[in-house]
Amino acid sequence: MVSAARAHPNIALVKYWGKADDELIIPVAGSMSMTLDKFATTTQVELTTDADRFELNGTVADAKATGRTTAFLDLVRNLAAEAGLDTANAKANVISVNEGPTAAGMASSASGFAALATAAADAYGLKLSPKDLSRLARRGSGSASRSIIDRFAIWHAGTSDATSYAEAIDAPEMAMVSVTVNAAAKKVSSRDGMVATRQTSPYYQAWIDVTKTTLDEMVLACAAKDFTRVGEITETHAHRMHAVINATHPPIRYLAPVSWQVFDEVAAMREDGIEAYATADAGPNVVIICRPVDTDAVAARVAEYGQINTFAPGPGAHLVDTA
Ligand code: ADP
Ligand code: DP6
Ligand code: CO
Repeated sequence: MVSAARAHPNIALVKYWGKADDELIIPVAGSMSMTLDKFATTTQVELTTDADRFELNGTVADAKATGRTTAFLDLVRNLAAEAGLDTANAKANVISVNEGPTAAGMASSASGFAALATAAADAYGLKLSPKDLSRLARRGSGSASRSIIDRFAIWHAGTSDATSYAEAIDAPEMAMVSVTVNAAAKKVSSRDGMVATRQTSPYYQAWIDVTKTTLDEMVLACAAKDFTRVGEITETHAHRMHAVINATHPPIRYLAPVSWQVFDEVAAMREDGIEAYATADAGPNVVIICRPVDTDAVAARVAEYGQINTFAPGPGAHLVDTA
């Protein structure tokens, strides 16, 4: 049994940062994102009688990443056992390639676990609805729940495994321009950074409260197809996430000086009449949202700060033919 799947990263406009349940990965608030049309992950899962094996970007992955993948495969095997499938005891050889930066704040865990969930479910013989696939991907990495969905996704926080999943949402026409200022892996993973924030940031409760109201505002702005409002909400929310993270002890700082220069350049663009807004995940790389017609102008303005990529809304996770 060999199955392969492809999934793309997603960049959140309303961010997920904090878990109500660490094991089930239930977030403290819902979130909303755009799935990208580049930086895909392709993952192949082959069932075997040997031990689980995880190869990432051409080399056997380190113990931490391998442990995370094996724990995820255990969930898939549990589902196979519940369904009475004879694959339930099979081990898996997982081979994955990320076309974008890994562990650098460009959502490799989202594309990675969305692709793994889709390929593993197929290899083990599970028949899952998009909702159940989103719930499964969530267990690997919270943000992966949204990469199952094409274009724009809202992840309903829910209160249980059954009620925490992503689905499609309509949004105004937009493009994204990423500025990769540093593609190296971050020092503090999103998973560890979230725990530190919950344990030591004095602003954590305020962050939870404001994320809930922000998502409500974002849903209204999307329904009204109000690009300006979507952009304003996105940029303010990104700053608030970095503020709650910066307030941890010892402090965690994901943004670099050059990241701030990009935020300043985006503000300068707005003064010059180009409507663009910036956000950044847990890493130094900045992602700009703009109207599709302005993509090239935005890219030209930030080219000096890093490596530029432009994105349209992309596809959800899907199976692909195995080679
Ligand atoms: P990012 O900002 O890239 O999402 P995270 O800290 O959230 O960074 O997650 C990085 C971790 O995600 C990696 O250390 C690895 O455990 C996991 N990961 C990344 N790519 C893949 C992949 N293709 N398949 C499975 N797991 C992956
Ligand atoms: C800043 O989904 O990577 O990108 O659930 O622990 O795997 P885990 O974390 P992850 O966190 C993403 C954080 C973020 C914001 C977002 O994508 O919503
Ligand atoms: Co991640």
